[in-house]
Amino acid sequence: MESSRTKPAGGPLALLRAEFDRTHDVWRSAMGGVCVAGPEAARAVMGNGHAAVAETSDFYRNRHGVFGPRSAQVAIGRAGRDLICRHLDARRADLPGLVAERLAPCAQWPDAGNLLVLRHLRDVLLHPDAPAHLHRTVEAIVARAVLAGARGRHSPPSRLLFRRRALPALRAEMSARRKRLGSRGGPSEPRDLVDVVVGGSDPAAETGDLVEVYLSFLFATVGSIGFALGWSVHLLGTHPNSAAAEPSWTVREALRLWPVAWLFARTPSREQELGGTWVTPRDRLMVCSYLVHRHPAHWERPDEFVPQRWARGVPDGAYLPFGLGAHTCAGATVAVRLLEDLVAILSRDWRVSVTHDGGGPQVGPALAPPRFTAALSPNGGCPGRR
Ligand code: HEM
Repeated sequence: MESSRTKPAGGPLALLRAEFDRTHDVWRSAMGGVCVAGPEAARAVMGNGHAAVAETSDFYRNRHGVFGPRSAQVAIGRAGRDLICRHLDARRADLPGLVAERLAPCAQWPDAGNLLVLRHLRDVLLHPDAPAHLHRTVEAIVARAVLAGARGRHSPPSRLLFRRRALPALRAEMSARRKRLGSRGGPSEPRDLVDVVVGGSDPAAETGDLVEVYLSFLFATVGSIGFALGWSVHLLGTHPNSAAAEPSWTVREALRLWPVAWLFARTPSREQELGGTWVTPRDRLMVCSYLVHRHPAHWERPDEFVPQRWARGVPDGAYLPFGLGAHTCAGATVAVRLLEDLVAILSRDWRVSVTHDGGGPQVGPALAPPRFTAALSPNGGCPGRR
């Protein structure tokens, strides 16, 4: 089963692919950083057992450096995950109807995946009682900044104007919630991710920094889960025999071949040797999960879609779709759960067929699927009503 039905990735990913000689796992790239493509070196950097790199994840990076302290990062990550988990429990029965309503008889991807996730998680992103204009703002942020290639769909002046309206609206909501939280004298149960960020952060933290953490949640949920769903649907539709595979294998294999988080940035904390290359704190390390996940010494038929490989469990440590070590994704369990539920519905209730215009993956900070159309026809029975 060939994943080569997807055109090779372009841009920076194509460059790193071309530079990887399959012998040297770490090298100085023409992209201006040091690329890490080998599982051992990737584990050393991400696991950071010997404090080899400055501690941080991309999630909490902001325009000043890093949102902190670490205790607030951990508290916010956990509270966000727990809130989403409770929401998924409460709304699981909605999923078959949502798939029927939003994806059948056909839909344009990858946007369809992002918009389905937005719809399903809408109330945890922003509580229904939040001001209506703020709901519109969040939807507009998704349209203008989260969807694949969204930035190219709007002119720079219109993006600037939008930022000037959207960010103050979010800052105002954060400030209002902080005041309310202060007057109640302590955190209560969060109703949405705005509450999570406000409740978990230091009272002295800048409101603008809180907005950036909230936006990270928006990208992680609507963006990353939506793109990962898009890849799973694309692979299901281009490999019709795979519908019989366990949904969890399809999701894992989709995240192996096309890791949405495909490049992790890190800075060495001192001069050191890494996989045969000498690096210093002036270097930017780029751990490339895409290349780790297709490393020929660690994966059989690395470029092929073989969901059955997961029947034997995780082959070895050459798999890091959610990062590794202290900064491993706080939302991995909820993301995988939603993906598996959706893929289970799609492969049980529907036949998925995919057509696309020949474009390749959309490579930005996230690795998004190419544009494609997925047609859903019922597998028999009455989809959406179970
Ligand atoms: C398919 C969906 C997702 C993917 C592929 C993904 C991937 C990742 C990766 C690779 C990291 C580590 C980044 C680094 O080390 O630089 C990360 C961190 C993080 N993710 Fe996710 N993520 C997803 C969904 C979510 C969701 C739904 C949440 C909501 C709770 C979430 C919350 C976080 C947080 C809070 C961190 C920072 C962890 C820390 O530094 O302590 N992610 N994610």
